[in-house]
Parts: sequence; structure tokens; C-alpha cells
Amino acid sequence: MRFVLLCLSLTLSTSPSWSQEALGLAAPAEVKDSGLLQHILPRFSLKTGIRVIPDEAGVLVLETAAPGDPVFARDGVIYHLRIGDDAKHERFRDWLLSDIGKNTVESFTPEQGAPFSASFEVATTQEDIVIEGDAARGEELSMTHCGRCHVIGPQNRMNGLGSTPSFAVLRAMPDWSERFEAFFALNPHPAFTQIDGVTLPFAPERPSPIHPVEMTLDELDAILAFVSAIKAADLGAPLQLQ
Ligand code: HEC
Repeated sequence: MRFVLLCLSLTLSTSPSWSQEALGLAAPAEVKDSGLLQHILPRFSLKTGIRVIPDEAGVLVLETAAPGDPVFARDGVIYHLRIGDDAKHERFRDWLLSDIGKNTVESFTPEQGAPFSASFEVATTQEDIVIEGDAARGEELSMTHCGRCHVIGPQNRMNGLGSTPSFAVLRAMPDWSERFEAFFALNPHPAFTQIDGVTLPFAPERPSPIHPVEMTLDELDAILAFVSAIKAADLGAPLQLQ
């Protein structure tokens, strides 16, 4: 059996569909350290020809809180998978939620700690699902439009500008939603931000000093849905911005 699997993986590794770029999967340390990913990812790849590898900056993200689809649990923590709007991402999620995927998760015996469970009940309401859809889109939009300055989450932890407040820090403010709704009017954004049908064009003598942020109110709504789901940073005391 082991020999057959080896041949199969050699065949796959030389076939064209296998040479595609791998999808990265970011996961909390306790999941990575448990060895679960090494157990499930090769099995998914073998089945589908889609490579998924552990990667901190991955497009697929496992988190201990919503948004995302609850995929497995351990020690009372439910892990949620966030994916992008992409057929391969969906394939991975659907596999994890399928009987085969669940069995694969549950057949893994960690060297330390309890096994992962893939059969648990999660109460979802219609409302949750709507917000999730927007939040997933809002996450992508945040990454595109805000991520070059703000740390928006684990997705770009390493890439924000140190002097710029992270979304988690902003989310912790009692009036976070007002600040986000009006961000385009709050410094430093007006100099480089255009909201379709809301802001005036840049004055000809003062063009945007950087590649401008151009978006619609509808997209800002999606960003708000994403930010509303972010776990606010635990700051102790309320934070002051000048
Ligand atoms: C070019 C860098 C840059 C980009 C791009 C950027 N921001 Fe900011 N943002 C900043 C800086 C710097 C501050 C801190 C301003 C301060 O401390 O007064 C800030 C502050 C904020 C604040 C708090 C404002 C206040 O005065 O309370 C919000 C909300 C915000 N940004 C949202 C966003 C959103 C949403 C996006 C993307 C759509 C975005 N930002 C894109 C640089 C940026």
C-alpha cells in the first residue's frame, strides 16, 4: 500500500496539474504544532491534485473565531476556515466538511493533547450567513485597500506600517464603526482616498501622493462587516488617537 501511494504521488508530482502554485493555509500555533495539517493536507492533495501547504501568509486562514465555516474543534475551541472567492478554496472547504474530510481529521492521533473532533453542532442563523458573505468580501477589500498601511489581522501581520493603528486596535474603540464609516474624511485618508459618488475628485494641484484608494460605499459596507467580526485587541485601557 505504501508503495502504491508513493507511485501515485510521484505521478502526481510530474503531472501538469500538480505543478500549479500551492495554496497557503495559515493556522494557529496549536493546530500547526499538533501535526494535524501534515496529516490532512497531503490526503486532500492526493485526492484532488490541489496542493495546500501550511503558510503564515496563506490565502486560506484557520482561526479560533468567526467569520468562516466551523470545520473542527478541540478542547472546546471551534476552528473556522476562511476562504477566498475561488473554486479551489471552496473545494478545500467542501472536502473538510465532507464525511471523508471529517473522518480524516478524526483519524489523526496527536502526539500530545486531545484528538480533533469534526462532528459538533454549531447554531447558525440566516443572519450569520449573510454577514459572513459580506465579511469575506470585506476581508479581501481590506487587504487590498487598507493592508498596505494597517495590519488588518493575521493575514498581513508582518506588513502594516508600525505607526498605523491595526484594525484590531481600532475595533477596540467604542466608536469604531463611526470611525470606519467616515474613514475617508479622517486624516490621513482624504489625500489619497476616493469614494465613488461621495468624495470630490482630487484637486488638480494636489494629486494623490500615493497610489489612491478607490472604492464604493458598498465596498466600505463589506469592510465594516469584516471589521465587526474582528476580535477587538485586548487593550485594558481605552486607546487615544490624536
Ligand atoms: C497610506 C496608508 C493608509 C491606508 C492605505 C489606509 N489608512 Fe487608515 N490610517 C492610516 C494612518 C497613518 C492612520 C492613523 C491616523 C492618526 O493616528 O491620526 C489611520 C487611521 C485610520 C482610522 C482611524 C481614524 C480616526 O481618526 O479615528 C480608520 C478607521 C482607518 N484608518 C480606516 C482605514 C480603512 C478602512 C482603510 C482602507 C479602506 C484605510 N484606513 C487605509 C493610514 C492608512
